[in-house]
Amino acid sequence: MDLDSFVASFDGEPGYLDWAAFGPLSPSVRSEVHADAELLGSGRPTGMDLVAEHVLEARELLAELMYAEVDQVTLQPSTTYGMMQALYGLAGGLMLSRGEFPSLTVTATRAADALGSIDLQWLDPEDGLVTPEAVREALTDETHAVAVSLVDFRTGYRADLSALRDVIGDRMLIVDAMQGFGAVSADYAAADVVCGNGYKWLRAGRGTGFARFSDRALERIAPVLSGWAGVDGALPVDVVPSPAASAQAFTVSRPDHLAIARLATALRDVRDVGIDRIDEALSERARDVMFFADRYDVPVLTPREPERRAGIVTLAPAPHDAGPLAASLANHGITVTVRSGLVRVAPHVGTGADTLRLFGDALAAFSSARVW
Ligand SMILES: Cc1ncc(COP(=O)(O)O)c(C=O)c1O
Repeated sequence: MDLDSFVASFDGEPGYLDWAAFGPLSPSVRSEVHADAELLGSGRPTGMDLVAEHVLEARELLAELMYAEVDQVTLQPSTTYGMMQALYGLAGGLMLSRGEFPSLTVTATRAADALGSIDLQWLDPEDGLVTPEAVREALTDETHAVAVSLVDFRTGYRADLSALRDVIGDRMLIVDAMQGFGAVSADYAAADVVCGNGYKWLRAGRGTGFARFSDRALERIAPVLSGWAGVDGALPVDVVPSPAASAQAFTVSRPDHLAIARLATALRDVRDVGIDRIDEALSERARDVMFFADRYDVPVLTPREPERRAGIVTLAPAPHDAGPLAASLANHGITVTVRSGLVRVAPHVGTGADTLRLFGDALAAFSSARVW
């Protein structure tokens, strides 16, 4: 698959600008589901084995896309499950922003409350952005790990993982890659834990989570939530072995093979097109959204520089404008996420001229009715 066929594979209805909430499934994912469902219904061991083979394929593709080893990669039901595996096994100071998605804030708080071994160090950056400078200023000798989103779900800010690594030295870097994986390129090798899921930017549907643990993470994070699937070798009956030495330790039970077949298919498409090309094309779509926002004087919260943003463009209208703007978008058949007065617009590389025209029309209608 090349970029043109990838772009052409976006066959949903015009008006969809909510990829940061849910990614409508790609045609290749949909046809894989049908084929694998038939194989799982056949009762033929060879057919069922074929579906199960997607587990290794998905882990290999994830390793390739994250510049990691296959045995550092585990499959998870979701990003948050992967985060639970990482955070419950920590000890010492864990730095994170209060503004992070609850996959981080709630999980970290529950882990700290349950185990008493984690000391939460909350960051409260003024502009809400977890920059290397904000982290550098807040670091203490007790900081053991820093957790951050690759792309912030609210502002669309893209963290610079390499710069964060430079700032934190030998401490652990734990990354929620949900809003960036498959959409932008990132220095995943700079991170110790990377968690994500395929139901947004990868267009793979739910249940397609994953996590990667570096060698440092394997050394320093205890597999507290390890289940029966987290061991090496055969089914652990009669005796209970230690958790696996690899990232396999951070698993509970076997993955859903149908879900993983979807994930493998989506990953293959991204690998074939190339994440750099996807990143570049997505950056242009985000710029298109910003163009219309500027044209109709709707303030943009998301940083402008391409390397500090990804697929999310957040509009921050004046409080009295938020309702009329949201209404105009809805009236023009545009799907976005409206939360706390912010309008999150999230195109993908296949967002076409038809959708952008509808978006521009919606902003024009809002603008012409606006009371200054
Ligand atoms: C940054 C971020 N992390 C995690 C999640 C949720 O991930 P999951 O449903 O895979 O646990 C979201 C969902 O919007 C998100 O924006």
